[in-house]
Amino acid sequence: MKPIPRVLVTRPIPPTILAAFDGRADVIVRQGPEPPTRDELLQSLPAFDAVITMLTDPLDAAVLRAASLCGGRLRVLSQIAVGLDNVDVAGARACGITVCNTPGVLTDATADLCFALLLATCRRLPAARRQIVEGRWSTWELEGLCGLELRGARLGLLGYGRIGRAVAVRARAFGMEVLACNRSPWATDGDPAHARACGLAELLDGADVLSVHVPLLADTRHLVDEGVLRRLRRGAYLINTARGPIVDEAAVVRALDDGHLAGAGLDVFEDEPRIHPGLFRDEVVLTPHIGSATLVTRHRMATAAVEGVLRWIGQASG
Ligand code: GLV
Ligand code: GLV
Repeated sequence: MKPIPRVLVTRPIPPTILAAFDGRADVIVRQGPEPPTRDELLQSLPAFDAVITMLTDPLDAAVLRAASLCGGRLRVLSQIAVGLDNVDVAGARACGITVCNTPGVLTDATADLCFALLLATCRRLPAARRQIVEGRWSTWELEGLCGLELRGARLGLLGYGRIGRAVAVRARAFGMEVLACNRSPWATDGDPAHARACGLAELLDGADVLSVHVPLLADTRHLVDEGVLRRLRRGAYLINTARGPIVDEAAVVRALDDGHLAGAGLDVFEDEPRIHPGLFRDEVVLTPHIGSATLVTRHRMATAAVEGVLRWIGQASG
């Protein structure tokens, strides 16, 4: 009889979700909210067949090699996230480790947060709140705290995958025009948001609001750089719910400083949880990487990650 697989879960997840492993795996749950260090993973991972990870876990090629080829038994890595930029996926494959993620289940929650940032940024909610709490609201002013009218404004989506599309549907409901730029073409007749397909230059020339929806890969790092930001019209807005390093944060600060950008709504940052101090201002709405943060979605993500491991256990024992 084969030994029962050992599964490490790098952070607590609800026991009701882990119950799916009952009788099928030996599960060790690492306690506490902080991510494991690289050293800790180098030490602990080799003793497990499977690991359920989070996007803050450092899973580089050396850690994965130590956990598998160099004396370890790791065969599957199942991450509770859609993004896998913290995992050396090619390195994992080279070590014979199967990698799974949780696409699909977080699309609507992330698109909702994106739209919350878009609305809050374009209608200047931080400045408006500050006026109240600082006792500076004295009367109704015709041109006080005016922001962007969404009806008729143009949203430029940089990336048009699942989340980009879900944002497009929301934007259309608000009367926005939607432009989208994607590496691979899509069937426009099956697109409920009727986004206009365009190249990067056309997207930047047309957008009042630019929203980022590409994965973080070697060639998307700083895709939104000084040149991209400066090509947007003066007074445009930037929204990022994808990954921080896709955007050059220092260039965003410079564009805010001289008024080229009217505002930014940011859920992700180049060096989380550190944030460029130049972003602490009323034109910027900041959230701490909470795109998928509804309990329904987070539980679906954890369930999908557990199912990823169970699929592998089923194959391994079948
Ligand atoms: C969240 O950022 C995710 O990649 O799921
Ligand atoms: C605004 O409050 C209005 O009544 O127009």
